[in-house]
Amino acid sequence: MSEEHYPPHMIAMLEAIWGEGFLSPGGAEEVARVIGTQALAGRSVLDIGCGAGGIDIALVRAHGAGYVTGIDVEDAVLSHARALVAKAGLGARIGLAKVAPGPLPFPPCTFDVVFSKDSIIHISDKHALMAEVLRVLRPGGWFLASDWLIGTEDVSPRMAAYIAAEGLDFGMATPERYRDAMTVAGFDSIDIQSRNLWYRTRAREELAGLQGDIGERAARTLGRDFVDRNIDIWRRMIPVLDSGEHCPTHLRAKKPADPGRPGRAMDH
Ligand SMILES: C[S@@+](CC[C@H](N)C(=O)[O-])C[C@H]1O[C@@H](n2cnc3c(N)ncnc32)[C@H](O)[C@@H]1O
Repeated sequence: MSEEHYPPHMIAMLEAIWGEGFLSPGGAEEVARVIGTQALAGRSVLDIGCGAGGIDIALVRAHGAGYVTGIDVEDAVLSHARALVAKAGLGARIGLAKVAPGPLPFPPCTFDVVFSKDSIIHISDKHALMAEVLRVLRPGGWFLASDWLIGTEDVSPRMAAYIAAEGLDFGMATPERYRDAMTVAGFDSIDIQSRNLWYRTRAREELAGLQGDIGERAARTLGRDFVDRNIDIWRRMIPVLDSGEHCPTHLRAKKPADPGRPGRAMDH
């Protein structure tokens, strides 16, 4: 039996809700909002938790990333991503690799940008993670990410029940814990922006879709029970979004430029 959290039927369910290649909300538009004012054109980008490939295709197509290295810990998402990247004809611009959880398997100062979309929720030690992200970034490089955070360290029974219903190995942290992890690692220009209000509205639209056409279509191939289980998760998620306990958030921070060398184009 597969121990993967994102087996093919889960990928199909999430794509039905969020679009081809996307295992998180907002599609290419939300990727653009995570990137904000940073320029990715020609840059070397690491995508932590690349999932089914939609993110990496958007980083190249919409933002002109020079080369994207997508890493993930699960086989099913990676094979799905490989197929989408091949279909998009982007094999020369996107490399995908399976990694083990833990230290990033790259030498220091490898990437201009480390990107991640709603994946580092699965990595509970944020201090170790941010130290690794800083290590693999070039001086002046940026960490640009979205993640699902908790509002406070005290998780209410309602929030705990939502996390249990998701059945995922969530390692959620507060904005304060992330800020501390980024500060201790040595980042500057730290910027943490809640996306709770945006996703509150969006999640209601997603639930309506699951209870309507999207759910009907998905039930034909994935089964009514599986769709109903996901409807239950969305029903549990909306109250904890409303209370602020579940807080999708954008995280941005810069690795300080090397004082001995001229600044790179991203040093702004
Ligand atoms: C919610 S999905 C998001 C995927 C993709 N970023 C997107 O937005 O479509 C989370 C992904 O993180 C991956 N993941 C979990 N733990 C990881 C780790 N330690 N390192 C890298 N990826 C991980 C999962 O396998 C999954 O593909």
